[in-house]
Amino acid sequence: MAEDSGLTVISSLIGVILPLVPGVIEKLAAGIEVLDIGCGSGGAVNLMAEKFPNSMFTGYDLSEEAISYASEIASENNLTNAWFETRDLTTFDIDAPIKKYDFITAFDAIHDQGRPDRVLAGVNRALKDDGVFLMQDIAGSSNVYNNLDHPAGPFLYTASTMHCMTVSLAQGGMGLGTMWGREKALEMLNDAGFYDVDVKSLEHDFQNYYYVIRKSRP
Ligand SMILES: C[S@@+](CC[C@H](N)C(=O)[O-])C[C@H]1O[C@@H](n2cnc3c(N)ncnc32)[C@H](O)[C@@H]1O
Repeated sequence: MAEDSGLTVISSLIGVILPLVPGVIEKLAAGIEVLDIGCGSGGAVNLMAEKFPNSMFTGYDLSEEAISYASEIASENNLTNAWFETRDLTTFDIDAPIKKYDFITAFDAIHDQGRPDRVLAGVNRALKDDGVFLMQDIAGSSNVYNNLDHPAGPFLYTASTMHCMTVSLAQGGMGLGTMWGREKALEMLNDAGFYDVDVKSLEHDFQNYYYVIRKSRP
């Protein structure tokens, strides 16, 4: 998964992905609190921590191995503004800090969660009122009949059943799978209290949507 993320996220994070969120580069440069949900081996957090030394970055992931690797890289590079913690986000709806973060990111991580509904509710709880949640997730429809011409459809449904659904179901979770799709994502974001959602696509990454999410319209 880190290899996949390296291709679509890390190589384009600073120059292409972050600019999808108006004003966030300037805020990161000035100094804000940032959280990455399901950070895996921490590539995005460590890169942002290096580029934006005035901001504080936290990464949470269920995998102890991934968190230990992420922390090691942060420490090797003297990134004192990057903090990683092994954390199961299944109860994030009730134990997320209240209105702590200015910017929350999730790269290819929400559909894998045991309880993505609770994670999204937790993100809403943890985000400041004027904060932004940037969610990268697989581009596709929630309805199979809309995905028949999807250029990566067979691959994505295979990855879904062989990996993503399994990761979630193994936690007794919802098992949304890779192809939970835009309609389901928007429905769940609304249910979590997000009413301002802008869905963007990037030329270098046909496989993902980039959801730029705020609690309500400014
Ligand atoms: C597809 S990986 C993406 C990792 C990283 N964001 C990246 O782009 O490389 C999804 C991540 O979600 C994490 N995850 C799954 N269920 C979780 C849970 N209940 N709590 C926290 N993290 C979880 C997995 O451990 C995994 O690292």
